[in-house]
Amino acid sequence: MLARLPRRLPRLSLPSSRPISTTAPKRSDALFIHRDTPYNNPQIAFKFDAENLKRAQEIISHYPSQYKKAAVIPLLDLGQRQNKGWTSISVMNYVAELLEMPPMRVYEVATFYTMFNREPIGTNFVQVCTTTPCMLRGSTDILNTTCSHLGGIKPGETTKDGKFTVIEVECQGACSNAPMMAVNDDFYEDLTPESTKKILDAFAKGEKPKPGPQSGRQTSENSAGLTALTSKPYGPGEFCQPEFQ
Ligand code: FES
Repeated sequence: MLARLPRRLPRLSLPSSRPISTTAPKRSDALFIHRDTPYNNPQIAFKFDAENLKRAQEIISHYPSQYKKAAVIPLLDLGQRQNKGWTSISVMNYVAELLEMPPMRVYEVATFYTMFNREPIGTNFVQVCTTTPCMLRGSTDILNTTCSHLGGIKPGETTKDGKFTVIEVECQGACSNAPMMAVNDDFYEDLTPESTKKILDAFAKGEKPKPGPQSGRQTSENSAGLTALTSKPYGPGEFCQPEFQ
């Protein structure tokens, strides 16, 4: 038999108001929303030049024809490179047309991957890693040095002469050579404030400094010297049974 329910349930004693979150809202929607501007609107024509069109056709040919939309990332990258390092709405629309896919699907990809810059950038795109391993090895100094050496710009800004844009990024996968930064397509590793300034000065002069570790070590070898494989490795067949030699 069902127990009789009281006509009115007892009120739970909750505080009169309970904030769901105390964190200030972040305007992350800026990453996703496109607003037409004089420099970024669908009326600005874009198409691949002859060389890139050939490359694009080669990339598309790697996929079955019914799955050619799988080429969206390499084609957006190609478009970004041709469009001075940033992916405008016209680049996205052109890629959508080329791959016969709805433009919205292309916008989704371009807004998801941070490798696509949705605003114009400087000639040299400096990405300073500030994730934990780099931070423990002094990336805060590297970021501060970079910003102050480029005239006091802040991360996310471009220098007045349009030569540099600096941003702060998450791990670039070169933690064993921390701290590091990427300039355009190259990694500069084992940085110190001094080597960072030298690299930036070289780029400012239009030169391309040697990428890789700036400490003089070879790739990510132990900076304290070798601790293994210190003797000459034996040759093939050595120590084998005579019939295998
Ligand atoms: S933390 Fe900087 S490259 Fe991994």
